[in-house]
Amino acid sequence: MRYIKVLLFFTILTVSCTLFAQKTKVIPNRGMASPFTTIKNRAWWKEAIVYQIYPRSFKDSNGDGIGDLNGIISKLDYIKSLGVNVIWLNPIFSSPNDDNGYDISNYRDIMKDFGTMADFDKLLKGLHQRNIKLVLDMVLNHSSDEHEWFKQSRSSRTNPYRDYYHWWPAEKGKPNPRYSFFDVNSDAWKYDQTTNAYYLHYFSQKQPDLNWENPKLRNEIYDMMKFWLDKGIDGLRMDAFQYVSKDTTWQKYPEGYEKNIIKYYGMGPNLHTYLREMNHSVIDKYLVMTVAEGAGSTLADAHALVDEDRKELNMAYHFEVMDIGNDPKGYSLPDLKKVFTKWDGSFANKGWLAIFLANHDVPRMVSKYGDDSPAFRAASSKLLTTLIMTMRGTPFYFNGDELGMSNIKFDRIEDYRDIATLNAYQHVLAKGEDLKAFMDKQKFISRDNTRTPFQWDASKNAGFTTGEPWIKVNPNYKEVNAQREETDPNSVLSYFKKVVALRKSSPALIYGSYKVYDVEHPQVYCYLRSEGKEKMLVILNFSNQNVSYAIDRGINTHLSKLLLSNYKTAKIRDHKIALLPWQSVVYQIN
Ligand code: NOJ
Repeated sequence: MRYIKVLLFFTILTVSCTLFAQKTKVIPNRGMASPFTTIKNRAWWKEAIVYQIYPRSFKDSNGDGIGDLNGIISKLDYIKSLGVNVIWLNPIFSSPNDDNGYDISNYRDIMKDFGTMADFDKLLKGLHQRNIKLVLDMVLNHSSDEHEWFKQSRSSRTNPYRDYYHWWPAEKGKPNPRYSFFDVNSDAWKYDQTTNAYYLHYFSQKQPDLNWENPKLRNEIYDMMKFWLDKGIDGLRMDAFQYVSKDTTWQKYPEGYEKNIIKYYGMGPNLHTYLREMNHSVIDKYLVMTVAEGAGSTLADAHALVDEDRKELNMAYHFEVMDIGNDPKGYSLPDLKKVFTKWDGSFANKGWLAIFLANHDVPRMVSKYGDDSPAFRAASSKLLTTLIMTMRGTPFYFNGDELGMSNIKFDRIEDYRDIATLNAYQHVLAKGEDLKAFMDKQKFISRDNTRTPFQWDASKNAGFTTGEPWIKVNPNYKEVNAQREETDPNSVLSYFKKVVALRKSSPALIYGSYKVYDVEHPQVYCYLRSEGKEKMLVILNFSNQNVSYAIDRGINTHLSKLLLSNYKTAKIRDHKIALLPWQSVVYQIN
């Protein structure tokens, strides 16, 4: 009897612990001798390394020049070899591709260019077999104008779907101005003749904003999320989510409001209500991660989105780092350090962030924050990878950066595909502004710079497609490609794998505190990550010069062990280190 009671007790205990772990999405410490056993509040998504795949440009399997799901499937072993454990796919749903999939016409189907639902199921299975999780991109602020909801909505003022979108009756005159990111005239109100009304589109005219005030719309979205979560996906990236709750009184904003777009356009009064509702109706029931694109306009906004006790989102990514480095003449390293340090400090005890230096909306990280000239492209790519992988927060790493891929820098507008660049060009043209200056700037900032085909090998089209690629391949592919780098122990790719392995094994790099040194130093970024007895000192030379750097005397470098360097030599002598151009080093400190 006693035996049965004990058994029952342990069974109940195990079941409740498992349920608790699932609910709170923590990783239970199983008492094994692991360096992580003392960490509190562990979560799989905090320990994840997210690898972002831009499906259109990753690998084409059928020769139509467009990357697809079968292409990704054919590269699963490559992805596994990187050591990353989560994949984020940009939208793969049906879309007329006005904004490369961020204009969804059917949320429950796969874009024809990318394949079929059977391909998707195969991809998910292949990832899970390799212990890699999958995050899908949920575009919920807007749909395509070719979505059935919008077709219905625009058909008459009394249609049941009318309130799925934001309309303004034209007999009331023109609504107060709203800024659009992708409109030639920056005008977010588009007149629609069928019902003599304007609809709202923060992005392109083909991306009408969904009306989240409407509970019917919200429920449809929650059902759609369940559809994908029931298939077994592991996470959701919420595109432009801060904009779903907006001021719908359409009041007049003060002059210059578009300079603080998030404050006026997003983070509306109901955002947190919707997030809690979404959690309650959908997310809580699954062991998945959620990440929001955008983190509001203040630190407080960001905390309100991701603090664990609020049960809204797991993490968000902010754009303050992205705002630095947009000037081709260069940027100030102290500014970059201050941004990272400010955000880390604010999230040291509560909340969690995503860390990134590039994605499909910005240029290549090496061209923006490093030096993409032949002499320093590899070294500076490795350094930037080190930065991403040694910061607190979940790394989001963009495909191709592990090879050191760089901006393509198109000379001709005909080569661009991105609606943002094409519409801005039309605008410049119409206003008679300086076209040359515009084109020069695009070489540096256009989103197409990160969207060029993945460089697999030195064969035609870098092995991306046997057909005509939808966007040109970067001509440097003969030198910068996966096949070549896989066999070179000193390549950017080989270094990437080492940093990834180091991060995954180190509680200090994932969870540890962060202390920065010499914030005003113009060339060197030096910080210490510590967790318990484990201390990791990271020193990064952000310049193409040799630098002799004096390490803070408070750091005990006496028995330090070099764990990683992007050059063969690295030596600390009497608290000084001689750094080579773009050198990055990670030391274990005793
Ligand atoms: C953010 C996405 O990352 C970007 O690519 C897209 O154009 C806009 N949201 C609109 O969905």
